[in-house]
Amino acid sequence: MRNTQLLKIAKDFGSPVYVYNADTIVRQYNRLTSAFSKVKQLKLNYAAKALSNISILKLFNSLDSGIDTVSIQEVQLGLKAGFKPEKIIFTPNGVSLEEIENVAKLGVQINIDNLSILEQFGTKHPNIPVCIRINPHVMAGGNTNISVGHIDSKFGISIHQMPLLLRIVENTNMNINGIHMHTGSDILDIDVFLYASEILFETAKNFKDLEFIDFGSGFKVPYNTGDIETNIEELGEKLGTRFNEFCKTYGRQLTLAFEPGKFLVSESGVFLVNVNVVKQTTSTVFAQVDSGFNHLIRPMLYGSQHEIVNISNPKGRERFYSVVGYICETDTFANNRRINEINEGDILAFKNAGAYCYSMASNYNSRYRPAEVLILNGEAHLIRKRETFEDILNNQIEIDVSIKEKVTA
Ligand SMILES: Cc1ncc(COP(=O)(O)O)c(C=O)c1O
Repeated sequence: MRNTQLLKIAKDFGSPVYVYNADTIVRQYNRLTSAFSKVKQLKLNYAAKALSNISILKLFNSLDSGIDTVSIQEVQLGLKAGFKPEKIIFTPNGVSLEEIENVAKLGVQINIDNLSILEQFGTKHPNIPVCIRINPHVMAGGNTNISVGHIDSKFGISIHQMPLLLRIVENTNMNINGIHMHTGSDILDIDVFLYASEILFETAKNFKDLEFIDFGSGFKVPYNTGDIETNIEELGEKLGTRFNEFCKTYGRQLTLAFEPGKFLVSESGVFLVNVNVVKQTTSTVFAQVDSGFNHLIRPMLYGSQHEIVNISNPKGRERFYSVVGYICETDTFANNRRINEINEGDILAFKNAGAYCYSMASNYNSRYRPAEVLILNGEAHLIRKRETFEDILNNQIEIDVSIKEKVTA
């Protein structure tokens, strides 16, 4: 995305604003598909939680992607965006049996990640095919909050509980049509995938009626120039070959599924903010912007380092800044970063703002959530309006708060 186009978007739609480039999403989708071209049946289920704007979901639908969902609301959004139920997989964690049953009624593929619900669901609905989320006990991921496959994680059914799992499947006579794992996000080393995949292949041998094996996601994307990323092409080559071998020994062609979020949308997004104040203290120069962790929580939650570019002054001399927000709590986006000279009123662009940015935004400090814009065929389209004061009050109920009797201490 060119700076001039971004500056125009900030002017036309105001700041702060999220901007996504459809071309980047399509490029990443095609890249993943080509990397696994040797696999006969490949299914990509975009992890809707990363960025769930309905226009983005529609874009994935137009690419013939499926979606991975974690709540019934995401399922409903997916259906509204035009996905056929069979293109949706529901991979929740810790949700009620009732929610899972309601999703199953919609014809969506269910993925269950605990023995209690598996037994209850299998007993009541033995004919509904179910995928099982396995926890392979592999420690992987860029941060402890996003490493979900290790022994202490709440996700998935432990491979050590396989005898119990098999007993439930046998007793209920349920149909297991898929097995799944997702070990974490930001996994750099493809050997981790390959190692965990072997565990999944071993597990798969226990189920005779599988249709697919879902390897989850966790591909690392670059955040800064020169950053290392998961080598998707090498993974496609190695895992693709191994998968084909496995299908031969299994005796049937299975579908290889993935459910990437970050890989597909992270780089497509930038977050534009306006610099309200440049504040020189005794030790630091702060650039204070019209946003905070209410709009982009990843730096404070995961320590994510989003590259920040001063698109108003890209040739200015570089100086050191700490970029912070306007929330009345520490909300640091970047510490002592080298950025082209910043003046009040400049527009800063935060890169890699496509995944887990808007979708994690809140109204904290009673601030409006930002607008979202999609650049499609070179043109900027507003795909979500900035919130208004009505949105802040929406669903709040004002009651008469006069206290009848004086409370004495
Ligand atoms: C079950 C599951 N699948 C897929 C994803 C997407 O992961 P990523 O954004 O790293 O591709 C997540 C992320 O939290 C997840 O929990």
